[in-house]
Amino acid sequence: MIEDKEAGGVVLFDDGDHRFIWLGGEAKTRKGVVQTMQYLIIDKGRGVLLDPGGVHLFPRVVAAASRYISIDRIDTIFFSHQDPDVSSGIALWLGVTSAKIYIAELWIRFIPHFGIVDQARIVAIEGVGKSIRLASGAELTFVPSHYMHSPAAYSLFDRRAGILFTGDIGGAVFPDGAETLYVDDFKAHVKFIEGFHRRLMASNSVTKRWVENARRLAPTMLAPQHGALYRGDSVGAFLDWLSALRCGVDDLDALYRM
Ligand SMILES: [Fe+2]
Ligand SMILES: [Fe+2]
Repeated sequence: MIEDKEAGGVVLFDDGDHRFIWLGGEAKTRKGVVQTMQYLIIDKGRGVLLDPGGVHLFPRVVAAASRYISIDRIDTIFFSHQDPDVSSGIALWLGVTSAKIYIAELWIRFIPHFGIVDQARIVAIEGVGKSIRLASGAELTFVPSHYMHSPAAYSLFDRRAGILFTGDIGGAVFPDGAETLYVDDFKAHVKFIEGFHRRLMASNSVTKRWVENARRLAPTMLAPQHGALYRGDSVGAFLDWLSALRCGVDDLDALYRM
């Protein structure tokens, strides 16, 4: 169980100019609602929020982020994809910050359905290039994650921190009381990620491709939007597992049986 003291956040990396912070998850899993985690990068006093989440989470994420930075200093928000648990709070976030939102181009015409948004503040990742550069010189690299699970999705690699924010990839669904902050025993963790990945990830051909890119980046930590953070040996163990996984359309029989 994640300790209450940690529910407000944990600094995962800090070199003085650049911090990568886990902003906590819901203190308690709410029945029938998938638990999510949010992250904040602070670089030379400016903030980058990763997958800040839906409307019902907004007060908690504002409170957690405010412990580290004034909200009006958040000028970048990254959405890994279009799902409501990632982006349905968009109108609220645009209201309390002057941030630009980065999301895959495909979703730009869909997300206004979450509320009135100023389209001029939405940036298509494909038009930006490979990465965005922060004030300290640190770079955040967009990592193609299409069909994992969304058809247009990105992970985000913070090379300076060595942390790969993976969005839904690596996500775990914990039963009540089984939550941990870190995955330290990958074998014991598989039961919490297996169903999620088999159903959501499109196919092994896709997971393999993503893993090849992820290995090239050599992250020291994987930070997913659900579940727990991979560190140490569990990073490589997860990548090996994902690269060999049969999932999605690899096995349609069970889904299409009539
Ligand atoms: Fe999703
Ligand atoms: Fe998600």
